Amino acid sequence: MKIDVFTLFPEAFAWYTSQVHVARAAELGHELRLCNYRDHTPLSHQQVDDTPYGGGAGMVVRIDVVAAALEAVYGVPCDSVRGERRVVELTPKGRQLDDALAAEFAAHDLCLLCGRYEGIDERVANLVSDRVSIGPYVLSGGEIAAMAVADAVLRKLEGVISNPESVVAESFAPDLEGALEYPQYTRPAEFRGWKVPDVLLSGDHAKVARWRAEQSQRATDMTRRRS
Ligand code: 6GU
Repeated sequence: MKIDVFTLFPEAFAWYTSQVHVARAAELGHELRLCNYRDHTPLSHQQVDDTPYGGGAGMVVRIDVVAAALEAVYGVPCDSVRGERRVVELTPKGRQLDDALAAEFAAHDLCLLCGRYEGIDERVANLVSDRVSIGPYVLSGGEIAAMAVADAVLRKLEGVISNPESVVAESFAPDLEGALEYPQYTRPAEFRGWKVPDVLLSGDHAKVARWRAEQSQRATDMTRRRS
């Protein structure tokens, strides 16, 4: 699949794109591309944003700049890009990302639009297929959210995570019926009096499996009670 991220800060993705599983996705033929709105702005002085109509603090990313960037990259009218891929605006006003939405996105090419400042001009609604948030709090821009979406999606692609079992048994995955993953431990078996549960050292695979199922259920019940 292809994931194109439109941003004013492509350098914010340097650490993420250097991760081993992202490199593996690239080797498998998947593509994560960064596009800077500024490279495509039709305005002078590389302008990309402006003050809000009606007054108020901050700057708003201009719709003509977003449109020009989409048209330069895809070579089709900006409002038809969403006919061939999911065009996703990252905004705290969007639908909250969950495992099911990540799985849905993994079946399409994606175009992720990051806003900064006070966001993107509302008329971006004419260009997007989805508006997505990563949680009920406000971030300073869409970049961190775009990385969260890209990562949740890339992990779903076959072969990106070397041990596929770890993806299937992951928290929220359908195989756990939306439950949380059981707790994990590694060496040392005891540290400052803190012990690894005996059952995990027992070598009894059936007992371990039963314990993990119980723990998974317990973790799920606790978080559901809290929310
Ligand atoms: Cl997608 N963007 C911003 N700016 N803040 C957020 C968010 C997105 N999701 C949660 N908070």
